Amino acid sequence: MLLSPLKFSHTLLSQLVSPGDHVVDATVGNGHDTIKLAQLVGKTGKVYGFDIQPQAIEETQKKVTLTGLTEQIELYCKGHETLDKTLPESVTLQAVVFNLGYLPKSDKSIITLPETTISAIEQGLNRLAIGGTILIMVYYGHEGGTDEKNAVKNYLQKLPQEQYAVLEYGFINQKNNPPFLLAIEKKRH
Ligand SMILES: C[S@@+](CC[C@H](N)C(=O)[O-])C[C@H]1O[C@@H](n2cnc3c(N)ncnc32)[C@H](O)[C@@H]1O
Repeated sequence: MLLSPLKFSHTLLSQLVSPGDHVVDATVGNGHDTIKLAQLVGKTGKVYGFDIQPQAIEETQKKVTLTGLTEQIELYCKGHETLDKTLPESVTLQAVVFNLGYLPKSDKSIITLPETTISAIEQGLNRLAIGGTILIMVYYGHEGGTDEKNAVKNYLQKLPQEQYAVLEYGFINQKNNPPFLLAIEKKRH
């Protein structure tokens, strides 16, 4: 069975993230990845979550409280491009997760943007541990989505292969711009 890009990204996360790790959910939205990550890092780890929409942060905060995962989650109503300024200097990351695009069933004009997405990826790469990975689910069917997809791919294609392994995973015979996964593993500093 071929896993969907989203299922494949979750499989990778389960293999990659262990109790005690520090990770970032760069696009919290409804908090699905935040909760999953919090379960993987456990009480001794930390999930730093970013979203620019107060509504997304508030709703996710409620889920966090309900699931009792408060200890390991810190949510910020801020852009992911502030990652470096926001996280304590000593923090090294095992994983950073992005879901590009807009929040489903919400304002479709609030989307992730090429410049801030690439800035956050760059900051994330600098903070990654060796063996750490950035996972980016690329949703690009909306207006502006193709520009962001192209800009991100263009940036990632230029990363030095001695330092990073960059993977693209997705179905190529599906209609309507199906989402796909980009994964970047840090091999050395
Ligand atoms: C596709 S949704 C994320 C879905 C989420 N992972 C979930 O489980 O529901 C994209 C999110 O990115 C947020 N976003 C847009 N620009 C952002 C930025 N510069 N920094 C952080 N979040 C941003 C949007 O507000 C939106 O909630």
